[in-house]
Amino acid sequence: MFDAKKFIEEAVKEIREQVGEETAIIALSGGVDSSVAATLAHRALGKHLVAVFVNHGFMRKGEEEEIVEIFKNKLGMNLRVVHAQERFFKALEGVRDPEEKRKIIGRIFIEVFEEEAAKVGAKYLVQGTIAPDWIESSGGIKSHHNVAGLPSGMVLELVEPLRDLYKDEVRIVARELGLPESISERMPFPGPGLAVRVIGEVTPEKVEIVREANAIVEEEIKKAKLKPWQAFAALLEGKTVGVKGDIRDYGYTIAVRVVESVDAMTATAMQVPWEVLKRIQKRITREIPGVTRVLYDITDKPPATIEYE
Ligand code: XMP
Repeated sequence: MFDAKKFIEEAVKEIREQVGEETAIIALSGGVDSSVAATLAHRALGKHLVAVFVNHGFMRKGEEEEIVEIFKNKLGMNLRVVHAQERFFKALEGVRDPEEKRKIIGRIFIEVFEEEAAKVGAKYLVQGTIAPDWIESSGGIKSHHNVAGLPSGMVLELVEPLRDLYKDEVRIVARELGLPESISERMPFPGPGLAVRVIGEVTPEKVEIVREANAIVEEEIKKAKLKPWQAFAALLEGKTVGVKGDIRDYGYTIAVRVVESVDAMTATAMQVPWEVLKRIQKRITREIPGVTRVLYDITDKPPATIEYE
């Protein structure tokens, strides 16, 4: 049986021993993994931990405000927020290939982050890498940027307190640390964020559409008291014909994906009640101009992956 109290005690002690009086830095995304890693490191190092929230422009609705409220205002963490939206959008102009998108986002993310690390004189890098991250990365399925994208010249030494944990254990630790439910029960969200939920070229317009659609999906799934592994929206390529009001329209298609899983290695499309799906469809097409069609993805993993890119 996993003992969260003991784990926390030991992790805090180990971080303190490894980092000593130096400064450590962490990229805090607000996901349960980086939040737990940051909270552990904050307990161990206090102000010697600098948490950096990079807003790359592909975050979920309200995410930045929520992170600031929880980690800076409530927990008193030394949090720096970097607005790098333009830098990311610019670098992604004209790029359509999923792996290239991921690599570009990973590269710029590290650039932005290293600039912050240099500013604060950090020697250590705390990461919320959990067991499935490095298992999948070494299997070469997808380049999860928190592992594979690290440049060889990285001068920061890694601190990975969650390396041996699985997601359910990380959530137990989050609850034990007293983090709010919005963090401890937060669904996984890819590092490149909504950029990999817009198929093909990423534009601010498309990201805004998928952000709104995603918020509706998350809201309705929560309201229906369903507890999937992940529930989200993706914006498909191209437009299809529709009718809005009395006129023929030509709009985007949103795919809704709700999956159950234990570790993301495999997943099952959830049997979401029809009325919940219809509510999601109605809200998306009513509230988001530009979307004329909503599809529900019934594919398991394998053969599909959870994310679209
Ligand atoms: P796939 O799409 O490979 O996703 O079935 C498995 C799990 O990993 C998440 N995911 C990512 N997480 N960086 C991350 O930190 C990424 O680039 C990334 N890609 C996928 C995905 O949301 C799912 O939970």
